[in-house]
Amino acid sequence: MKPLIAPSILSADFARLGEDVSAVLDAGADIIHFDVMDNHFVPNLTIGPMICKSLRDFGIQAPIDVHLMVEPVDNIIPDFAGAGANYITFHPEASRHVHRTIGMIHDNGCKAGLVFNPATPLDWLEHVLEDLDIILLMSVNPGFGGQKFIDSSLSKLETVRKLIDQSGKEIRLEIDGGVKVDNIKNIAAAGADTFVAGSAIFGSLDYSATIAKMKAEIKAARTGS
Ligand code: DX5
Ligand code: ZN
Repeated sequence: MKPLIAPSILSADFARLGEDVSAVLDAGADIIHFDVMDNHFVPNLTIGPMICKSLRDFGIQAPIDVHLMVEPVDNIIPDFAGAGANYITFHPEASRHVHRTIGMIHDNGCKAGLVFNPATPLDWLEHVLEDLDIILLMSVNPGFGGQKFIDSSLSKLETVRKLIDQSGKEIRLEIDGGVKVDNIKNIAAAGADTFVAGSAIFGSLDYSATIAKMKAEIKAARTGS
């Protein structure tokens, strides 16, 4: 599957969000990662459907990957679908009825994903893997940008990579947290194909150069060079 670079707008300049998102897309980003935090499921408060719609109204056409860190989940799904989301991912701990929530995301015309915190077991996948379009592994504890990549995420990626391959389904494997130019090669080698990076991209002086370096590292992992 084509690798996708997904800058997390948590580290963007919120005072000029439309322009910063346009800039990162012009610099080669593939999709926009949109972190939604509620100061309840995670200890931080960010942005909701109105901001997603504002980006669409501004003219942003790239896929928007909404990462819900909210509890409860279900009632905000139609709002994000109406606001222009393409992917909606949620944490299984935040939904009483995980299978129903996945169905709601699909019924609202979006691609659905489950998100696993570093200590969350993968057992949830046993019964719903084939219903998913994307699986997101957190390589930091959710809530903040700029944290250090947790190394045990690499073996978890390898495990999920095998499960996806065994299923024969087109399911993306996304990684989120502490992804940088200098570790993305190992992350790609472990099986990720969708790479969220917030501080590493928005904190760099030259978005194009950073994204180009990330893409080169991913290519090197794939070709074994
Ligand atoms: C953390 C968020 C991440 C965050 C990643 O809860 O889900 O998307 O923005 O930021 P970096 O890439 O700086 O670790
Ligand atoms: Zn995220």
